[in-house]
Amino acid sequence: MVSRRSVLMYGFAGMPVIAAGWRAPDACRTDERTAFTNKLAIPPLARSHHDRHGRRVFDLRAAPGSMRFRPGAPTETWGFNGPYLGPTLRARRDETVLVNVRNDLPEETTVHWHGMHVPAAMDGGPHQPIPPGTTWSPTWTIKQPAATLWYHPHPHGRTARHVHHGLAGMFIVDEIEALALPRHYGVDDIPVIVQDKRLNPDNQLNEEIPTIGGMGVLGDLIIVNGTVAPYVDVRSTRVRLRLLNASNSRFYNFGMADDRSFALIATDGGLLAAPLDTHRVQLSPGERAEIVVAVRPGERVTLRSYRSDLGINIGDQRFAGGGDILDILELRAASELFPSPPLPGTLGERPVLDVSAPAATRTFELADFKINGLLMDMGRIDVGVRRGTTEIWEVANLDTIPHNFHVHDVQFLILSMDGGPPRPELGGWKDTFYVKPGTRARIAMRFADYADPDMPYMYHCHILWHEDQGMMGQFVVLGPGQRPGTLPMSHAHG
Ligand code: C2O
Ligand code: CU
Ligand code: CU
Repeated sequence: MVSRRSVLMYGFAGMPVIAAGWRAPDACRTDERTAFTNKLAIPPLARSHHDRHGRRVFDLRAAPGSMRFRPGAPTETWGFNGPYLGPTLRARRDETVLVNVRNDLPEETTVHWHGMHVPAAMDGGPHQPIPPGTTWSPTWTIKQPAATLWYHPHPHGRTARHVHHGLAGMFIVDEIEALALPRHYGVDDIPVIVQDKRLNPDNQLNEEIPTIGGMGVLGDLIIVNGTVAPYVDVRSTRVRLRLLNASNSRFYNFGMADDRSFALIATDGGLLAAPLDTHRVQLSPGERAEIVVAVRPGERVTLRSYRSDLGINIGDQRFAGGGDILDILELRAASELFPSPPLPGTLGERPVLDVSAPAATRTFELADFKINGLLMDMGRIDVGVRRGTTEIWEVANLDTIPHNFHVHDVQFLILSMDGGPPRPELGGWKDTFYVKPGTRARIAMRFADYADPDMPYMYHCHILWHEDQGMMGQFVVLGPGQRPGTLPMSHAHG
C-alpha cells in the first residue's frame, strides 16, 4: 500500500496556491513535509550470459502488468520483465551486447537505446518495429565511455503512450577501469528514475492531452523507480544518485531540501572532467545527471525538485509544471556511516572535438510542432551527414513553449547558447538539452564508425507528445561515395 501525499504546489505570484500551509509564493521551501513511507524500489540488474561469440546476452520481455500506485484499484501498466519499468542493463565499454526484446504487448512497439552509439539498424527507432508475439535481437559493441543511458520504446506517433504506461529502463555503461566513485549498485550507487503519473479516479492511466499548456501529459503523482513517496537507506558518507528524467513532459530542477551543495559528476554522455560543486541540476525529459551527495549520520534529507527555469511566461510556466515544487526522494542516513573514499579530483577525459573546420553547419528551427517547417515523415530523409566528419548544428526554439532537442547515435558538445558559453553543468557530453523559447544554441558532434545510407537515425524534441505530433526529423550517416537511399514507408502525419 502506498500513502497519498500532496506536494503539487503552484507557488508563484498571483496564481492560486494549492497546498495547505503554503504561504509565501517567493519562498522556495514549504513547512509541509511529505511522508516518505515506501522503500525505494531498485530495478534489478538484468541477468545476462555469454553466447558462443562472446557476446553478453540480455533478455527483455515487454508485457502488460499492474501496479498499486495508490489505494483502490491497481493501475494497469506495461513493463519489461515485470509490471512497470525494466531491469537495469549493465555492460562495459568494448563489450559486445545482444538484447533479445520480446514483445508480448497487444500492439507493436520498438526499443531504443537512448544515448548509445549504435548502428542505425540497431537503434530501435520507428524503423525497427517489433510486432506483437515476435522478438527483435539487436547487437552492437559498446564504443563509448562510462555513462548512464536508458532504453524506451519509440514507435511512430505512440512513444508517449508506451513510456507513460511504464516501458523504460536504465542502461549503465561502465569504464574498463573503475574510478574511486560510489559504485555499489542499489547501495551507494542508486538509480533514480523520476516520472510523473496522471491517474483517473479509477486509478487508470490518464493519457488525454489537456487542451491548454501544449505539453501533453503532465502528472501530479511523482514516482521514483515506480515507487510513490520513496525513501532510501544510506549507509555511507556519500551516495551517488543517477538521475534520469523519464517523464513525458515534466522538467525537474533537482536540489536538496536544505539547499546543501552536491557534486555533479556526469551528464548524459558520461563523466565530467572534474566534479562540479553545485546545488541545482535541471533536467528536461530524457536528460540524465549523476550527482554525489554527502550525508551526516542519522539525518534525513530530501531530494526535491524546485521551480524550473523554463524561460517562459508565468502562465505557460504553470501549465508546463515549471512552477511546481515537488519532493522526490528522502535519503535516510544510518546512525553510523561507512566512510566513502574522497571524490577524485579528475573524473573523465576533458571533452575534445575539433570544430575549427566543420564539414557542415545546419540550422534546425523548432516551431509549431515542426522542425524547419516540416512534420516527421518516415519516408523522408532530412539530412545526410558524412561518416568521420564533425558538424555544427544550430538549434533554435522559435516557439513560446518549451522544447528540448535530442540526437540519436552521437553525444554532442554545446558550443554556445545565444552566443555565450553554456552554463558549466552543460560543459560535458550531452545527447539531449533544453532550448528555451527564443534561444539559439550551437552544438557540435562527430559522426563516427557507422554508416548506412538506407537506415536513418532520429533527431527530435523529447517532450513525448511533441515528438509524437511530428516534431522529429531523420538523418543518415553516409560512407564514402554513398548517397541517401530511399525509404520504403512514406508515412505522412496529421
Ligand atoms: Cu529517448 Cu529518440 O529518444
Ligand atoms: Cu535517443
Ligand atoms: Cu517540444
